[in-house]
Amino acid sequence: MIEPEQGERLIQAATASRKNAVSERSGFSVGAAIEAEDGTIYGGCNVENSTYGLTVCAERVAIWKALSEGVRRFRAVAVVTGADEPTPPCGACRQILWEFAGDVPVVSATSGGKRKFYRMSELLPEPFEF
Ligand code: THU
Repeated sequence: MIEPEQGERLIQAATASRKNAVSERSGFSVGAAIEAEDGTIYGGCNVENSTYGLTVCAERVAIWKALSEGVRRFRAVAVVTGADEPTPPCGACRQILWEFAGDVPVVSATSGGKRKFYRMSELLPEPFEF
């Protein structure tokens, strides 16, 4: 379960990161935020580039930032887009979030104020683990 205050704080951080999205190619800006066990929040945005294929989603940017700072335990994730309905993390990000954050709560929000709540185990019920 994600506490309402915790969810709103994470959504706020993801919304702030979304402003930095490098998304001129798709026009789809995404912000994400991941909360570490100690309460520190790491934000990320999608970063598109001329290769197209090496685009990185906001969720992975956020978790790479945290991991690269030595953080290994996480409490919750938020994703914010400008879509009409909340969108959950893509398949690749589900795998990465599962691997490094485990069965954490995820809130997907729209810039228009809609929210949808999940757990990682719902989003990735049969994970690959190695
Ligand atoms: N994107 C994310 O950042 N997160 C997701 O969960 C889904 C997709 C980005 C990738 C690309 O830059 C744009 O959204 C359109 O797919």
